[in-house]
Amino acid sequence: MCSLNKVIIACSLIILTATSASLFANETGHFGIGKKATPEEIAGWDIDIRPDGKGLPEGQGSVLKGEGLYEAKCSSCHGLFGEGEGRWPALAGGEDSLTEDRPEKTVGSFWPYASTLWDYINRAMPFTSPKTLTTNEVYAITAYVLYLNDLVEEDFVLTQNNLASIKMPNEENFYIDNRPDTNNKRCMNNCKDPSKIIVVHSLQGITPELQEKESTEEQKPLLSDQAIKGKAIYATSCSICHTSGVAGAPKVGDTAMWETRLKQGKDTLVKHATQGFQGTTGVMPAKGGNLTLTDDQVKNAVQYMVEAK
Ligand code: HEC
Ligand code: HEC
Repeated sequence: MCSLNKVIIACSLIILTATSASLFANETGHFGIGKKATPEEIAGWDIDIRPDGKGLPEGQGSVLKGEGLYEAKCSSCHGLFGEGEGRWPALAGGEDSLTEDRPEKTVGSFWPYASTLWDYINRAMPFTSPKTLTTNEVYAITAYVLYLNDLVEEDFVLTQNNLASIKMPNEENFYIDNRPDTNNKRCMNNCKDPSKIIVVHSLQGITPELQEKESTEEQKPLLSDQAIKGKAIYATSCSICHTSGVAGAPKVGDTAMWETRLKQGKDTLVKHATQGFQGTTGVMPAKGGNLTLTDDQVKNAVQYMVEAK
């Protein structure tokens, strides 16, 4: 147990120990704290792929194999031909559109290297279950997305040896930008009144935004405390499917879609949302794919969905 005056002594002891550890032992990290990462730990993080193909694991996959995989795992969001369902990102098309007012940036029209495509799919897709594809599946699906962009033929087989040789149409337009990071001089006094600053440009994300339904909600009965707590959870982890109704998800607010579901009782709905559920219209991933949510948070989100309808 520590008393207040002992805390200071204890602290200096810890600092001493940390410093001497860095002097006498090699096992700690660079600043004398932590521990050295093992080669296995580094390998777990070191998954990036370079444009020259360095970092690619051994493997292969054909356009043909990729077609079925893509249709099963990707097309519900990105469209059968990579055209993008609803407001989900398109992966193909947009050739020669980069200089237009509304450029369509896709893998084929914009991306500089095929290695980025392999890496992106490998680390981040499918959106709700990343890292579930095998190495050969990533090769096959990458080959198919390249095929959708007319960059390879239909009998093409992608391997770790030929990926770097694929030339992407927009590569030349990527170059080292050596302009200074800031344009304006820093202002330290008599600066512009912030309320007079007008934003003339804002970044547009490509992920569909939550369509807030504030105005209609206000006319409905007030939400319960539980539903109010659940609203933010819904916005971050559930709305991506349940606001648009993508991939067979029942749309929040669509009474017909919820009628029979509600008859199962709230406990069943919560159970399905928490543990995941394969129904007749699609797959509800456990906790919407966000396994960091607590059971209570999921319960609150369901409550919000039920009341917001
Ligand atoms: C549930 C919907 C969903 C599914 C299924 C899905 N994706 Fe995506 N995908 C997204 C979203 C959303 C983004 C944008 C993510 C972001 O910007 O952070 C994205 C981005 C991408 C991008 C980058 C697009 C760009 O131009 O920036 C690629 C490539 C991609 N997905 C490939 C795939 C592949 C291949 C599969 C199947 C293995 C797949 N996705 C399955 C939703 C999905
Ligand atoms: C990747 C898309 C996706 C996400 C994200 C998602 N859901 Fe679902 N959800 C579905 C689909 C698809 C169904 C319909 C399954 C069926 O009935 O075939 C569903 C069904 C449900 C149902 C009805 C279950 C039933 O028994 O009828 C509830 C409740 C639900 N989701 C809650 C949630 C909650 C809460 C979240 C966020 C924590 C969430 N969902 C996130 C896709 C999603």
